[in-house]
Amino acid sequence: MVLIEWKNSYSVGIADVDYEHRQMIDMINELHERLSRTTETVDATVSLGEILRGISAHFALEERFMHEHHYDQFSQHKGAHEQLLDEIRDIMDGYEANPENSSKRLSRQLDLWFTEHCKTHDARLHKMLGNHEPLSDARKG
Ligand SMILES: [Fe+2]
Ligand SMILES: [Fe+2]
Repeated sequence: MVLIEWKNSYSVGIADVDYEHRQMIDMINELHERLSRTTETVDATVSLGEILRGISAHFALEERFMHEHHYDQFSQHKGAHEQLLDEIRDIMDGYEANPENSSKRLSRQLDLWFTEHCKTHDARLHKMLGNHEPLSDARKG
């Protein structure tokens, strides 16, 4: 079962940005798939760490873009990013004690994030400032 399925409600209305978000969903699903196949806590922690890193890379790119353009809602948007990263870290901390519940929490948080964050913060940002470099570029280095 995939962790997150693309929904039209995730769309920010800009094809390139939606493409990046789809790529991120693919990456998250791939790692989650690996996570569900393993019974080893160590492997699970590595996968969760990769999910966190991939999402952080995407956020860092957006934040750099906002900063460079002196975006008026930079701090609010960055604050929302930090909140999600904190929640993922919290899920990671509880993983060992309750893997199944942690996976459920992860999918719920990410679904909520894609639905709310993309529609509000990301949609506003990209409508005001346009597109930025694809996620894949940020993941190379
Ligand atoms: Fe985004
Ligand atoms: Fe964002």
